[in-house]
Amino acid sequence: MAHPMIAPSILSADFARLADEAQAVAGADWLHVDVMDAHFVPNLTLGLPVVQSLLKATDIPLDCHLMIEDPGRWAPPYAEAGAHNVTFHAEAADDPVAVARDIRAAGGKAGLSVKPGTPIEPYLEILKEFDTLLVMSVEPGFGGQSFIPDVLDKARKVRRLVDSGELRLLVEIDGGINPDTIEQAAEAGVDCFVAGSAVYGAADPGEAVRKLRAQAGV
Ligand code: DX5
Ligand code: ZN
Repeated sequence: MAHPMIAPSILSADFARLADEAQAVAGADWLHVDVMDAHFVPNLTLGLPVVQSLLKATDIPLDCHLMIEDPGRWAPPYAEAGAHNVTFHAEAADDPVAVARDIRAAGGKAGLSVKPGTPIEPYLEILKEFDTLLVMSVEPGFGGQSFIPDVLDKARKVRRLVDSGELRLLVEIDGGINPDTIEQAAEAGVDCFVAGSAVYGAADPGEAVRKLRAQAGV
């Protein structure tokens, strides 16, 4: 992989000090922001007002991961606000292509995410409408869970389509990424690695980002 990207997840940061926590990972490629609505997933985190404030507090492009119902209604405003990536779940969208087009029309990059148990085959045809595929390697909802290696088959499949020129998107993985798991994900062809507890649980989050990136450069 030419340049493995690391996206620290602020889900594992101190929500009362988000500007400082963003600064602590200033060398990261993206800052991953987990938006949860207590309906699509059994947890509630933050929403558009916090993202708007974060956009003023950091230059790191925001990678918003919407674990919410009705993304057609809620996703485009994140792009309008200035989020770099706006990713929503395939399982939550009635018309994922329409949502992707609305995100792009609002100036954002569109991402499609799939839970560990969701096959990728039904979505291969529409991935040309997306800039990112976010493969979940834990059940969405919480940080600090164990990596599910079976999902790497989905990353491999999409990597092959990217390498053969049939698709143009970044393959991103989210959940349980740490020094013990990142290499197998890199070998499967992942471009961008989300890491929450492995970064913000480290004594030096900035150093943790650098080490993970070096490890992913396999
Ligand atoms: C889980 C979130 C992840 C989470 C990852 O639903 O989407 O982004 O923050 O946390 P770790 O890296 O600790 O598994
Ligand atoms: Zn996430």
